[in-house]
Amino acid sequence: MSILLDSKGDESVKVVVTGGAGFIGAHLTRALLAAGAEVVVIDDLSAGAVSNLAGLPVRLVIGSVTDCSLVEEACTGAGSIVHLAARPSVERSLLDPMATHTVNATGTLTVLGVAQRAETHVVVASSSSVYGGTGPLPRAEDTPTLPRSPYAASKLAAESYALAYQSGFGLPVLAARLFNVFGPYQSVGHAYAAVVPTFIDAALAGRPLTVHGDGRQTRDFTYVAGVAGLLCDAAMRRVSHPRPVNIAFGTRTDLLAVISELERIVGRRLSVQHGAPRTGDIRDSQADTATMRALFPDAAGLDLPAALAATVAWYADRTGTAPGVSPAAVPAAVPGTAASERR
Ligand SMILES: NC(=O)c1ccc[n+]([C@@H]2O[C@H](COP(=O)([O-])OP(=O)(O)OC[C@H]3O[C@@H](n4cnc5c(N)ncnc54)[C@H](O)[C@@H]3O)[C@@H](O)[C@H]2O)c1
Repeated sequence: MSILLDSKGDESVKVVVTGGAGFIGAHLTRALLAAGAEVVVIDDLSAGAVSNLAGLPVRLVIGSVTDCSLVEEACTGAGSIVHLAARPSVERSLLDPMATHTVNATGTLTVLGVAQRAETHVVVASSSSVYGGTGPLPRAEDTPTLPRSPYAASKLAAESYALAYQSGFGLPVLAARLFNVFGPYQSVGHAYAAVVPTFIDAALAGRPLTVHGDGRQTRDFTYVAGVAGLLCDAAMRRVSHPRPVNIAFGTRTDLLAVISELERIVGRRLSVQHGAPRTGDIRDSQADTATMRALFPDAAGLDLPAALAATVAWYADRTGTAPGVSPAAVPAAVPGTAASERR
């Protein structure tokens, strides 16, 4: 099924965004439209929502990336494909490894086959989870990989297939290892939600924040606007690279520091409860960003306090639950995104 949400109606470069109705996809779609692209989204809406694209001039093709003919039709004439569609949860992958493999690995292989026949360019979203906590910090791309969950294994398979298509068939690809991305539109309120929106949701609702383990685990938290801007640039310039590329800004923050910053933003102490560490989680994560900075010299991130403030304001605006946090006081998720669209 395909929905034409609106029409762009001119001769712009066509970019297909798989998983475009999800969190990062919602930002990337806006960034691509702002850059003048015609955007086609493929999404089965298993986690994404049509409302994330409300009011945008995009064609939404509802279906799975494992459906070769659907992907083939959507990608006809595309200058680039940004492949984000996935089951992006470590915990879910431990419960159902085959389902994760089918979407994340087989789905990627399907997209790559279509891209090869269409002679286009592909950006594949991989993950810092492929490192599995090996090697010194910050982690460069040649650090040995050691997946600790079926999710991480599926992402390693996805990026390996992408690079194999580049070597074997000459398909230009960028295998982008994303780190912990957060910001507006990230889904929350379910068992597999990411840590930052889960903390914000609890803080705004006045519930205790649950920390798995001691809270000293560190992450290279990356605000979504910077990631979306970089992926947009990669698609528009058809950037490729023979090796995987870390996509993050090289910071390292522990969960207790995130909670302290949230306390500062909401202006009160937050109640915290500690649970058991989660299987498959890694202890520390931080990107070596040298390759990314060479390929994308203009890439810019927002610092953590400003990015968290923007994110809290967005969730507060959506739920009306945070007195004292004004959405107008913080930067928009994506330049040019109207408040009415940020839902
Ligand atoms: N968010 C992060 O911190 C992070 C970190 C590393 C890697 N990534 C990767 O970035 C990508 C986007 O992640 P996100 O955080 O936006 O997740 P998300 O769940 O918000 O988006 C994924 C989208 O893919 C769609 N989808 C799932 N299965 C599909 C299928 N079979 N066919 C078509 N669409 C399907 C979902 O409906 C959803 O809209 C994923 O590949 C994820 O593994 C994300």
